[in-house]
Amino acid sequence: MSKTAFITGITGQDGSYLAEHLLEQGYRVVGMVRRASTPSLERIEHLRDRLDLVEGDLLDTSSLVRLLGEHEPDEVYNLAAQSFVKTSFHEPLNTGQVTGLGAARLLEALRLVRPGARFYQASSSEMFGKVRETPQRETTPFHPRSPYGVAKVYAHWMTVNYREAYGIFACSGILFNHESPRRGLEFVTRKISNTVARIVCGLEDRLLLGNLEARRDWGFAGDYVRAMHAMLQAEEPDDYVVATGETHAVREFCELAFDRVGLDWQEFTGVDERYYRPAEVDLLLGDPTRARERLGWKPRLSFPELVGMMVDADLDALLRAGHHAVRGRIPAGVQG
Ligand code: NAP
Ligand code: GDD
Repeated sequence: MSKTAFITGITGQDGSYLAEHLLEQGYRVVGMVRRASTPSLERIEHLRDRLDLVEGDLLDTSSLVRLLGEHEPDEVYNLAAQSFVKTSFHEPLNTGQVTGLGAARLLEALRLVRPGARFYQASSSEMFGKVRETPQRETTPFHPRSPYGVAKVYAHWMTVNYREAYGIFACSGILFNHESPRRGLEFVTRKISNTVARIVCGLEDRLLLGNLEARRDWGFAGDYVRAMHAMLQAEEPDDYVVATGETHAVREFCELAFDRVGLDWQEFTGVDERYYRPAEVDLLLGDPTRARERLGWKPRLSFPELVGMMVDADLDALLRAGHHAVRGRIPAGVQG
């Protein structure tokens, strides 16, 4: 009999890649979608007829209890969150409700109606914040620098607590930044790749960014969802850092993205204070040794390949929509 996976946040970047991965493994995939006046299903449109989409919300415990009871999942992946760090400074309480307490509600629903199911919590390198050591590993103390990071620390420790207190097979995946052509437009990598494509097509003249010196350990989302699944197949539940082990500055991402289309990044990029944060995470660099040794996981896509893939996808979409290149060059392989 095939296994059933229940995914919250299925309409997000990771939800769409994880759903693809689990369908490939023969799972029945149940995805929780929250009610909206206009549903945001673009990232899973291509999978629609293979998914069971059900209505529920991390803010509503009764919906979680009902759905876990009705669908009897073997594995539960909690990917839903208010996930944009900048917004968490403007909406700290909403972020706490969804990103922090939301995980607790789901764990509690699981404990009550489906305690034998395996649980994955989408934890974050943002928990390391003002880093206490480099590289960061599972044992590195947390020092979050945003309401989002604080909420994720709470959700992380609740996951550990439900494992220790109730024997639930609960894992916390401490994932470093991961990106893709499906990344939200507000995150820096996609903002860059999309604006570069728009500059090539003459739809925009400037790329305005905040802190160009912030460093991140950036990987490809399609690689990272394999680690989520692998954690729930291990003999024992544990916490895992998932990262590439390389760090790059925002400026380097920019440089490579403009290089891809034959333009000089400095000619088109400026700094705007609006994009700075009240407290910044200056440097993230993960040590994925545990995930490699125990799960056999390693990333497949390199940093330059990731940048190229994102720029190409954004340019391709604009050319397909009828826009034309007015400057720079179109990378080989981009059809339009
Ligand atoms: P994302 O694209 O922002 O997706 C977030 C998802 O959460 C969306 O499906 C959203 O639904 C859903 N959601 C928001 N509020 C909800 C609520 N009240 N009830 C139910 N669903 C709700 O995020 P992502 O990049 O895929 O990341 C997935 C998870 O990993 C998040 O928890 C994020 O914090 C965490 N994480 C991400 C990274 C990264 O680099 N991407 C790194 C570490 C950890 P709508 O479509 O309806 O808005
Ligand atoms: N978004 C954005 N926009 N960030 C900018 C900009 C800009 O114009 N200019 C500079 N940055 C810097 C930010 O200050 C930050 O240091 C870095 O680029 C990355 O910002 P984001 O792409 O917004 O991601 P994040 O690192 O804050 O958070 C992402 O990764 C976390 C894992 O570490 C999100 O996906 C979180 O949900 C995730 O947990």
